[in-house]
Amino acid sequence: MASAQAIAMTYATTPLGAVVWLAAATAALWAVPVHVAAQSVERGKMLYEARCGACHSVDANRIGPAHRGVLGRKAGSAPGFAYSRALAGSKLVWTRDNLLAWLKDPESVIPGQGMNYSLGEASEREDVVAYLATLTSPRTGAAR
Ligand code: HEC
Repeated sequence: MASAQAIAMTYATTPLGAVVWLAAATAALWAVPVHVAAQSVERGKMLYEARCGACHSVDANRIGPAHRGVLGRKAGSAPGFAYSRALAGSKLVWTRDNLLAWLKDPESVIPGQGMNYSLGEASEREDVVAYLATLTSPRTGAAR
């Protein structure tokens, strides 16, 4: 009798157990990319400050142009910044892929440009671009 009960309980709890496990696994699957993305932005912010901050800032033109709203912006279009002729005359729009390529090797993207800097690590380029994508424009609200 006791063992029959135990077997019945096993049958009753196993599907429930599976449902709970599936729910947990699904939650984990959803949680992981969000977590990774947040970490990437966080790392990108630190990298930006350490590696780009000597020449760039988010809201002011310095040695390089201000970066707010750069994702989705036409290359060479930060108001008031004196770009090289090559960059100013470029028809490029800053997509994620263009930014990744630019950070790997600016000269290969826009020959004759004036940024003498690159990031050697692919993961660093990904993180910095993830961070740049969060710098949405206050005027347009563009969040791409
Ligand atoms: C040594 C100074 C220097 C450093 C360091 C530097 N940049 Fe630049 N950056 C420039 C200059 C100068 C320009 C403008 C180039 C031109 O006019 O051809 C520029 C242009 C750019 C542009 C084009 C923006 C536009 O408005 O079209 C992007 C994007 C950019 N930099 C991203 C970065 C990022 C991200 C980093 C850090 C990983 C970085 N830069 C590090 C000097 C620098």
